Amino acid sequence: MTAEYQVHGDVAVITLNNPPVNGLGLDTRRGIVDGLERAQADAAVKAIVVTGAGGAFSGGADIKEFGTEKSLQEPNLHSVISAVENCAKPVVAAIHGVCMGGGLELALGCHYRIAAPGCSVALPEVKLGLLPGAGGTQRLPRVVGVEAALNMIVSGEPVKSEFIGAVPGQKLFDRMAASPESLPEEALAFARSVAEARPLPLVRNLPCKHPEGDAYFQFARNMVKGMAKNFPAPAKCVDAVEAATRRKFADGLQYERELFINLMWTPESRALRHLFFAERAASKIPDVPSDTPKRDIKKVGVIGAGTMGGGISMNFLNAGIPVTILEMKQEALDRGIATIRKNYEAQVKKGKLKEDKYQQRMALLSTTLSYDDLKDCDLIIEAVFEELGVKEAVFRQLDQVAKPGAILASNTSTLDVDRIAAFTRRPQDVVGMHFFSPANVMKLLEVVRGKATAKDVLATVMAIAKKIRKTAVVSGVCDGFIGNRMIERYSQQAGFLLDEGCTPSQVDKAIERFGFAMGPFRMGDLAGNDIGWAIRKRRYVEKPDMKYSKTADLLCEMGRFGQKTGAGWYDYAPGKRDAIPSPMVEKMVEEHRKALGIAPRKISDEEIVQRLVYSLVNEGAKILEEGIASKAGDIDMVYLTGYGFPIHRGGPMHYASEVGLFNVVQAMKRFARNPLDDARAWEPAPLLARLAAEGKAFA
Ligand code: 3HC
Ligand code: NAI
Repeated sequence: MTAEYQVHGDVAVITLNNPPVNGLGLDTRRGIVDGLERAQADAAVKAIVVTGAGGAFSGGADIKEFGTEKSLQEPNLHSVISAVENCAKPVVAAIHGVCMGGGLELALGCHYRIAAPGCSVALPEVKLGLLPGAGGTQRLPRVVGVEAALNMIVSGEPVKSEFIGAVPGQKLFDRMAASPESLPEEALAFARSVAEARPLPLVRNLPCKHPEGDAYFQFARNMVKGMAKNFPAPAKCVDAVEAATRRKFADGLQYERELFINLMWTPESRALRHLFFAERAASKIPDVPSDTPKRDIKKVGVIGAGTMGGGISMNFLNAGIPVTILEMKQEALDRGIATIRKNYEAQVKKGKLKEDKYQQRMALLSTTLSYDDLKDCDLIIEAVFEELGVKEAVFRQLDQVAKPGAILASNTSTLDVDRIAAFTRRPQDVVGMHFFSPANVMKLLEVVRGKATAKDVLATVMAIAKKIRKTAVVSGVCDGFIGNRMIERYSQQAGFLLDEGCTPSQVDKAIERFGFAMGPFRMGDLAGNDIGWAIRKRRYVEKPDMKYSKTADLLCEMGRFGQKTGAGWYDYAPGKRDAIPSPMVEKMVEEHRKALGIAPRKISDEEIVQRLVYSLVNEGAKILEEGIASKAGDIDMVYLTGYGFPIHRGGPMHYASEVGLFNVVQAMKRFARNPLDDARAWEPAPLLARLAAEGKAFA
């Protein structure tokens, strides 16, 4: 059992021991109940301490068990907490490290609680699309007050134990230990001090009221409405806490349980749970063990102070790592540094960054025009023009000056990392680090693994990505890597939709209603339509038989590159970013349609969404099959963190699995029969076809 039982004189100690965070899985739940029974049967035992081994009291219910047989087996968490409450001897929770979700609910069922400082206390279920389902919504308001409890439950954010412990009148902790180290001894002493106390105090018996009742809960509902867009859980959290103030405890508990079970079956919760595991799995590379030694990164060099170089540098400065930026000319350096300053100053102005922190960060930044100044850098990231010849000159020079063992990274978005690596005599030290614009804001980092990239280089880059708070996903070498390779298919479909009868705003609105942050045409205007134009020009040569709508080329021929030229698919008022549908563009689309002899048809939102999303899915399946991505979850992470795919849909691959791959393939076959579409693009990837035939999902 993953809970240990020991007796220390007259106190029994039940220690949850289910690494990594003492999740309350079936074995652990059984262990707790077993420990309670042994303690009650032993006359020498006067009190019981429940605590956690390692760095956590408990991270809550074992999320891996959700949806499995084990989660249904008794004792469930309710039964465990009930066993604790009904224990004839005092039960003291000794809390440290992490006390979250079901862990906090277990602690709230104990008769007493002693906490070490520094412990993260939370009911984070809402982040999994759930609400606390083992009494958290009923007990927490009784000990910290309705408003503080609702705040914790709806935000899911952790609060430090010493902070709650210091609030006068709160009854969450009966005692604060001096330190995590002294907690075990202090918990034993506390348990002895309450050994004879009777009746035993129960949180469930405390009153639960809010002085402004109706008005407060109405206010709370209005508050969560905005933030809960697309997610049902926050509003249910309000309902459950309100029930704590209005119903008898047992009724409230029952109500909470019903809400919890209903939420567990929602696609939104499944998406968030998928995201939780996919995010953690993305940082693991199948053939790179987690104990692979990492190289020390104490100083970073960045080549190019343009759009990307500046943002990339800020990431490291924010993490306290010194950066030297190299440029060709002083003017370019001055421009780049001015942009970095402007970005930081905007944060200071908004109160998001303190002036002294800003100055500390700038003090870590140095500039140079000479490669000699990069020789002590441990990691050098190139962000110069996207031309192989320019990259070659840079990497040949780096090879001359960089110290042995320095990691040489390229931020290229389309070029072959293996060819770049071949410009050096150390291809094992070369890797792609594909940041997304604005690089200081966007979470995604595609780590491009070359043929020769050493495992310790990958391990180091993944670790440094975590340090600079990026979600790193490994991609193999291919044109566009994971994200841009897929987006090309999506853009191709967006173009066909215009040819067949849509306007840009109709397409954008449909996919934005599905939940995307921005539709393809608004996105094109933001990123610059000339980027896609350059790629298509290359494709017309490389793949002359590939089908594209010509409308995007016609748009670019009109000089409408997007926001940067004040006009793109949409019109823009000077200095504004609001997309205004453009009569001129709509006319251009119509005329092009006429020239092609196409009679426009009315296209439903459903068809728009399916064609855009399934085009991503099919290319994603190919990427998976070719081993460019090692897991479907990695592809989802790329889309969720880099391309504005709706979080509540869980990413393209998860969403396709939710729809059912059989249905996805059926729709693709239907689209392939459309003579105006590209039938070859809709040919299901063999992996997709196989999984659909076997009735399986992407793992
Ligand atoms: N169940 C199972 N595994 C869990 C877990 C949980 N509740 N919480 C974390 N883990 C696992 C992670 O999957 C990861 O596993 P891996 O090493 O195999 O990838 C490992 O623990 C470490 O997790 P992190 O990488 O997140 O480590 P951190 O130290 O950064 O964070 C944490 C630790 C703060 C506990 C964070 O993992 C977390 O927030 N966990 C989720 C906690 C949570 O949501 N609890 C509520 C569960 S639902 C519930 O209790 C229902 C109840 O109300 C009925
Ligand atoms: P940019 O044109 O804004 O900046 C490039 C900078 O590199 C310029 O300041 C230029 O003076 C400098 N430079 C050029 N040659 C140099 C050399 N030999 N030595 C030193 N400095 C040199 O370009 P941007 O947008 O920052 O792109 C840089 C790289 O990042 C490209 O490879 C691009 O494909 C990639 N990228 C760009 C993204 C974007 O959205 N802009 C997103 C992801 C990657």
